[in-house]
Amino acid sequence: MNSRFRNAALAARNGLLAGALLLLPLSGSGQDESVEEIVEILRAEVDRLTSRAELDHGRKIYLRACAPCHGVQGDGKGPAAIDFDPAPRNFRRGAYKFRTTVSGALPLDKDIERTVREGVPGTEMPRWKNVLSEHDIRVVVQYIKTFYPYFDDPDSLPLEEDIIEIPEERPFEPSLSSIAAGRKLFIDQDCVKCHGEGGKGDGPQADELVDDWEVPILPANLTLPYYKNGKRGQDIYRVFTSALNGTPMPAFDELAEEERWQLVDYVQSLEIEQDLKYWLFQENPNQVRHPPIENSGVEE
Ligand code: HEC
Ligand code: HEC
Repeated sequence: MNSRFRNAALAARNGLLAGALLLLPLSGSGQDESVEEIVEILRAEVDRLTSRAELDHGRKIYLRACAPCHGVQGDGKGPAAIDFDPAPRNFRRGAYKFRTTVSGALPLDKDIERTVREGVPGTEMPRWKNVLSEHDIRVVVQYIKTFYPYFDDPDSLPLEEDIIEIPEERPFEPSLSSIAAGRKLFIDQDCVKCHGEGGKGDGPQADELVDDWEVPILPANLTLPYYKNGKRGQDIYRVFTSALNGTPMPAFDELAEEERWQLVDYVQSLEIEQDLKYWLFQENPNQVRHPPIENSGVEE
């Protein structure tokens, strides 16, 4: 490499991109390999500067829009969120509920972006879709990943086979018989132990469950008109296939494709049934159930 090339390369390595670009045209001497080498270094440098600028931008958005709840340190202890139930996610633990990866795996970028875009219905986590641009969502997600260093370790990232493909097309249409088959699976697979006979989140184990932070957590009330992770068939399929990391909601790996859609049909039928009960008997499905308050201090 001649000395001008070396200087250009050094300038690039030191982050002096403009300097490197100025030196480069002066140094031509038909040494193709060296030119390629320089271009390579320059390209890496441009990438590095771009991602650093994007992270800075992501940090600004985070401090403004997310830190009040998730905390400046990403520990979920922001000043606006003292008593929130559920608490804002602690990003320092790497446990993400809503993913298209197998149980225990880290999420893909697109999974986190989706949660930020759509929010988490029924909790304080807002929907950012019409507030932040797509670019802002992308960079703020890159920023929250910096709270958990394993996102930077290629060995910790999900492998190809850890990614769950959810078919857009179902193999059959929902019917009374697929709902009935789903109901049977709901009992046989022990969903009822947590979610209860009628799917209201009041199964025999419901009051004993805690999340990975040892905070009591209730099974979802599946008769509500909104779900945390979305109400489409694919959303429900995703939950019991990927598990919700950090919570007792497990993954059901052994189910056949057909059985997964039968379960989806049954779960979706719960809301319709609840709607009917509401219109016929004024039974309100929207009342949020809280665990019983032990020792309320009131003397009988
Ligand atoms: C008003 C409070 C509040 C604000 C502001 C807020 N969040 Fe949240 N966020 C929450 C709560 C509460 C949860 C927990 C929901 C749950 O566990 O079901 C949460 C959960 C999350 C999750 C967890 C997803 C998963 O798969 O587990 C992500 C990612 C997230 N928030 C990103 C953000 C980003 C990015 C911003 C800023 C653009 C933001 N949040 C702003 C309250 C907030
Ligand atoms: C050990 C208890 C347990 C079992 C067994 C269990 N769940 Fe869950 N499930 C939970 C908990 C807890 C949550 C809520 C997690 C949260 O709020 O973050 C949940 C959430 C869900 C959700 C997400 C709803 C939403 O708001 O997005 C669906 C769907 C679901 N479960 C379906 C099922 C099905 C179907 C089965 C059986 C195949 C099942 N669960 C078995 C504990 C359980």
